[in-house]
Amino acid sequence: MPGSVRPTHRKGTIMTSLSGITPSGRLTLGNHLGALRRFTDPDGFYFVANLHAMTTKHDPRRLAALTREFATLMLAAGVPEGTVFIQSDVPTHAQLAYLLECTSYVGELSRMIQYKEKGNRPMTRASLFTYPCLMAADILLYGAERVPVGGDQDQHVELARDIAIRFNREYGETFVVPQLNKAALATRVKDLANPTAKMSKSAADDAIGTIRLLDPPDVIRRQIMRAVTDSENEVRHDEANKPGVTNLLDILAACTDGDPVELAKSYASYGALKQDVADAVLAVIDPLQKEYARLTTDPGAIDHLLAQGRDRALDASTPCLQAATRAMGLAGSTP
Ligand code: ADP
Ligand code: TRP
Repeated sequence: MPGSVRPTHRKGTIMTSLSGITPSGRLTLGNHLGALRRFTDPDGFYFVANLHAMTTKHDPRRLAALTREFATLMLAAGVPEGTVFIQSDVPTHAQLAYLLECTSYVGELSRMIQYKEKGNRPMTRASLFTYPCLMAADILLYGAERVPVGGDQDQHVELARDIAIRFNREYGETFVVPQLNKAALATRVKDLANPTAKMSKSAADDAIGTIRLLDPPDVIRRQIMRAVTDSENEVRHDEANKPGVTNLLDILAACTDGDPVELAKSYASYGALKQDVADAVLAVIDPLQKEYARLTTDPGAIDHLLAQGRDRALDASTPCLQAATRAMGLAGSTP
C-alpha cells in the first residue's frame, strides 16, 4: 500500500498481531484460553486497555490495582517480553482516538451492539459511545492486520476497518486496513454454574461458575467438581442438549490440545471427567500462578519490562500518529 505507515520493525510479510484486554474484573480461565494464550507474536503489541475500563463508572484504586495485576499476568502467561504495555503509558492512543472521532459518524457508533446493550441512556458516559474510535486507534497506530479477539469484538474490528478505508480515501493513504477475524479460533469457555452463558470477568468476584486465574488451586478444583451437568450420566459432546458436559469437554480439549468429541469417548462418568478437567486446568494455571508469584517479588523487574514495552510501542506508533495529524491538516504538526 503506497505511502501507508508501517511500523519500522515489521519484517517482510509477517502480519503484525495486536490485542488489548480491558481491566474490568479479575481475569478468568476464559480470558486465558480465548485471549492471553493467543498473544504469542514476538513482534506483536499486547496491552492492558485501561483507558477502555473508564467507559462505565469506575473506582480509580481498583483500576490501578487491576491494571498492574493484568500486566503482571500477561508477563506470567508468557506473552513475549517487550510486547506488553499499559495503554495509558502510550499517549498516541488517546491522541489518534480524537482524530478518529472527527472522522466517525454518530450513525455508525449508535449501531454498535455493545453500546445498544450497555449504553444509550442519559447517564451513559460519552466515552462508552466513542470507545470504538479508541479501539480503532489502538489497532491502526501499529498497522496491525491480525487482531485476536473474541467474537463479541468483531463489530469493533469491522468499524476500525471502515474508519481506515474512509480515512485513506478522504485524507490520503495513511493506515493499513486490518483484516476481519475469519474463524472463531478461540474456545468459548462457558460459566460452570450456568453453561449456556460465557464465563466472564465481569461476573461478581465470588461467582461460583467463574474460574479466576489467581484463585487458590483448591478453590478451582472444587468449582470444577461442582460444575453443573445434567441428570443423565452419558459423556457426550452435544452443545444443544448437554451444555455443561460439552463445556467441560471443550475446556479439557483446550487445556490438553485434544479433540473434545474424541475425548468424550474415554469417559464413563461425569466424576471421572471432572477430575481430569480439574487436573488439566490446574496444569495450565499452576505454572502461571508460580510465575506470577515470582514476578511480584521483584516489582522493579516488572516496571522495567513495562517500560520496555511502552518505549517500543511509542516508537512504533508515533510515525502513524504524525502522518494522520499531517493528513488532517493540523498546523504545527510538521516533524
Ligand atoms: P469478559 O467478558 O471476561 O469481560 P472481554 O469481553 O473483556 O472479557 O474479553 C477479553 C478477551 O478475552 C476477548 O478478546 C475474548 O477473546 C476473551 N474471552 C473473554 N471471555 C471468554 C470466554 N469465556 N471464552 C473464551 N475467550 C474469552
Ligand atoms: N475492547 C476490547 C475488549 O473489551 C479490548 C481492546 C481494546 C482491544 N483495544 C483493543 C482488543 C484493540 C483488540 C484490539 O475485549
